[in-house]
Amino acid sequence: MAVGSQTIRFFLGEELQEVRGLDTNTTVLNYLRLQAGRRGTKEGCAEGDCGACTVVVGRPVGDHVEYRAVNACIQLLPTLDGCQLLTVEDVRSSTGELHPVQQILFNRNGTQCGFCTPGIVMSLLALSQQTGPISTYERQLALVGNLCRCTGYGPILDAAQDVSEKIEGTPEQPWQTPAWNQLQRTSPLSIEVGEKQFFAPQSVQELIQLLDEFPQSILLAGGTDVGLWVTKQQQALDTVIYLGEIAELQTTAFDQKGLVLGAMATYQAALPLIAEHVPALGALIERIGSMQIRNVGTIGGNIANGSPIGDMPPPLIALNATLYLRNSSGQRALPLEDFFIDYGKQDVRPGEFVEKIHIPLPPKHSLFNVYKVSKRFDQDISAVCGAFYVQLDAMPGEGREPLIVAARICFGGMAGTPARAFHVEQRLQGNRWNEETINKARVMMDQDYAPITDMRASASYRLQVAKNLLRRFYLESYMDRGAARIDRQPAVSR
Ligand SMILES: Cc1cc2nc3c(=O)[nH]c(=O)nc-3n(C[C@H](O)[C@H](O)[C@H](O)COP(=O)(O)OP(=O)(O)OC[C@H]3O[C@@H](n4cnc5c(N)ncnc54)[C@H](O)[C@@H]3O)c2cc1C
Ligand code: FES
Ligand code: FES
Repeated sequence: MAVGSQTIRFFLGEELQEVRGLDTNTTVLNYLRLQAGRRGTKEGCAEGDCGACTVVVGRPVGDHVEYRAVNACIQLLPTLDGCQLLTVEDVRSSTGELHPVQQILFNRNGTQCGFCTPGIVMSLLALSQQTGPISTYERQLALVGNLCRCTGYGPILDAAQDVSEKIEGTPEQPWQTPAWNQLQRTSPLSIEVGEKQFFAPQSVQELIQLLDEFPQSILLAGGTDVGLWVTKQQQALDTVIYLGEIAELQTTAFDQKGLVLGAMATYQAALPLIAEHVPALGALIERIGSMQIRNVGTIGGNIANGSPIGDMPPPLIALNATLYLRNSSGQRALPLEDFFIDYGKQDVRPGEFVEKIHIPLPPKHSLFNVYKVSKRFDQDISAVCGAFYVQLDAMPGEGREPLIVAARICFGGMAGTPARAFHVEQRLQGNRWNEETINKARVMMDQDYAPITDMRASASYRLQVAKNLLRRFYLESYMDRGAARIDRQPAVSR
């Protein structure tokens, strides 16, 4: 790989920053508060949960700039190379007037102690950059990653409504458009500070070379898992290879056979395509973390992390997705379920990285749904995540009871890996799609799973939920979709 640049360059507001010699594990939040003297951005949890550290990152995409809310506490500074970073200090106009978002929050009494307020301002600012009307649902989605301990969410949601009415799809930007050409680089970022190295290859080929040269390196995608290794586990990440500059890994496409998602496709980037073709999967994605997490977190990272409670593997396994891995020996494809060998152990060969995921679309006469059960509706990790796919010979409610041709059921939170319910599936296949079959199949969960008790749920609760979800899946197949779903209700009704 060509010798790269040692300097991280980005705009902080309108000002060009050129950072050299700083620990490559430095978070954006620590840079802001300890180096740049911008203390408006707060630290609450340092793990992406509370939103007090929310900043807005502008990134050129084609001929426009996308402004997105992110959690500064778990984002590593070198990932900002080529971007514009906006904090609450950038929001006031040059004459000192409050930005409409701030003024509205003030008018609506949406702030008391003020600790959460800069983060909420930045989340609303990101929302206000959206063109076109903003719905109640979108306002809620934009704010679920911002916790407030004193004000109560009513006034904050009122403010969000006023913001969307005031902005009316015409974003207001108090900052000047930066001279983006100043950030263009001819060689990839390649930083060495003390024992630590940070590389940002710009192509798959460069990535392969780096992995051959540094086989022990840590791959960094959105950093919503990796960032916490630094902030919570106090780990030193010696050699990091950041994947965010590789355009080939970010593509999302729909072809005759299904959806193809590059490993670096973020949840938010992949959401429109997924929601269009597999709506139940889209609904699940909207419950992953918060907007700040989904703006940077990737589906590839969720899979590669190998967690038994990651939300994407159960539905993708139920849909029979294929995982593509690559190293210098070439590309390898395997059924996603075979990737998860044991708790903390995945089928990854030396120098391999996740390249893409292929998701076949459910064919005619098939049913698919996925249910996330967690203590809170939003911004929570699953206690149980159950995904159900059945292929029938006719649709339910079309006269006769359909025959079950095939079934694929996968759960997260029930074993050390995402795991299929093979006994349940066998009990379903070849039988009629009716109450009797479901009742006989439900009890087979006892043979498929021996879940553990932990802080999220007891073993018996998990088993009971798994059985109930199968029944719910069945009952919903005879209802209008949505009739039995516990969908997001407006938090405040007016
Ligand atoms: C506040 C918060 C809420 C969350 N909520 C949820 C939730 O609701 N549901 C859920 O499932 N998860 C949740 N997570 C976990 C996390 O957001 C997801 O697992 C996310 O998809 C990880 O993706 P990432 O791009 O951030 O991965 P990273 O953190 O960058 O990487 C994760 C792991 O994958 C490896 N990796 C990344 N990309 C590749 C690749 N292409 N090839 C090989 N290895 C790779 C990394 O080396 C690392 O081991 C949450 C996290 C936080 C902080
Ligand atoms: S400090 Fe809580 S999300 Fe960053
Ligand atoms: S105003 Fe105090 S935490 Fe929100």
